[in-house]
Amino acid sequence: MLKKTKSLAAVRPGSSFKQSNPLEGSMTFSANSVKILLAAGLVLVGTAVAAQESAGTGQEMYNKLCSGCHSASPAAMKGKPVDALVAGMERVKNLSNATGAAARMQQTVQGLTPAQMKDIATYLNQMK
Ligand code: HEC
Repeated sequence: MLKKTKSLAAVRPGSSFKQSNPLEGSMTFSANSVKILLAAGLVLVGTAVAAQESAGTGQEMYNKLCSGCHSASPAAMKGKPVDALVAGMERVKNLSNATGAAARMQQTVQGLTPAQMKDIATYLNQMK
């Protein structure tokens, strides 16, 4: 790198060291930026995959995230159609001015992916 800068200056005596160096500097920087962005992207993807894997089955998610408010065997939800259960979760998720327990449920379901909501709904649907 240093050698190259020197020889450039030697071939073109008029060009100053300062003119050519910022250009090289910024090119080096953007190449590094791409590498950093790629590395950060891989970390993010890895984290997202790990989060989904550790969330567990519909049963595990229900027991961990929902049963505290809805009980382990919620009469109003068990056996209901999956679509109706997902629609109910979506309704709470999208409430515009939820307070109290509804607001806490809202925070819970906002952290779930559509697939996770469906897994929980399937568990409730199959509950006897
Ligand atoms: C902090 C207590 C709390 C938690 C945790 C909670 N809920 Fe709820 N849930 C509520 C309350 C309160 C309502 C009624 C909300 C309303 O209509 O304003 C409700 C309503 C619902 C409904 C019916 C919505 C409708 O319109 O039919 C479903 C389905 C539901 N919850 C599923 C879940 C699932 C699944 C989880 C776990 C991911 C969960 N809830 C976690 C308190 C909670």
